[in-house]
Amino acid sequence: MSKTATVIVSSPRKGSNSGALAEAIAAGLTESGVTVETLDLSILDIKPCRACEGCQRNLGLCIQPDDMEAVYPKVRAADVLVLSSPVYWFNMSGLLKTFLDRCFAVAMVGERPFAQKTIAAALAYGDADPYVSGAVNAIRTFQDICAYTGAAWGGCVYASALSPNTLSQDQSILDKAKELGRALSR
Ligand SMILES: Cc1cc2nc3c(=O)[nH]c(=O)nc-3n(C[C@H](O)[C@H](O)[C@H](O)COP(=O)(O)O)c2cc1C
Repeated sequence: MSKTATVIVSSPRKGSNSGALAEAIAAGLTESGVTVETLDLSILDIKPCRACEGCQRNLGLCIQPDDMEAVYPKVRAADVLVLSSPVYWFNMSGLLKTFLDRCFAVAMVGERPFAQKTIAAALAYGDADPYVSGAVNAIRTFQDICAYTGAAWGGCVYASALSPNTLSQDQSILDKAKELGRALSR
């Protein structure tokens, strides 16, 4: 059976730079025979984790009736999870963090399905430097999530861009992102 990938987009704006990177990664995955589904968190109703621990007692079932109900099966099934985000306040976007908090229901329950997955990332940030911008904080967080859940770290593509529709014009970073997609298919 072919691999599946879920690509998470977490910028709310049109012409998103991190979204352009995610799209190129998705193209590399698709080209290599991976079945890809992209989820745009900005149009989903995903409430913050309530830390009730209900999911830990109830086979990963979250008590909150929102769009995560439809997202959980896709996250569970994915071999590859691509997390894309703008850097906001020196880390990932709030939309992505809220999504990841809710993934506690999947990652740490039962057979811990994250241990079978590869996680990769795409980041866009306004500052010229990935350290000053805070992109490194997001990357470190993703790597810590991998270490904690047993997921494999598949790598990250990242670039500086402040205005929308910038990275979609930058062929060299799009090629890098596509190559990451191809590598994740293996
Ligand atoms: C609320 C907010 C916070 C931001 N914080 C940072 C930051 O901490 N570091 C940085 O380098 N850029 C920051 N930026 C700039 C964005 O990361 C940059 O515009 C990026 O291209 C956005 O990606 P997107 O097009 O995918 O939304 C911030 C932008 C916004 C709107």
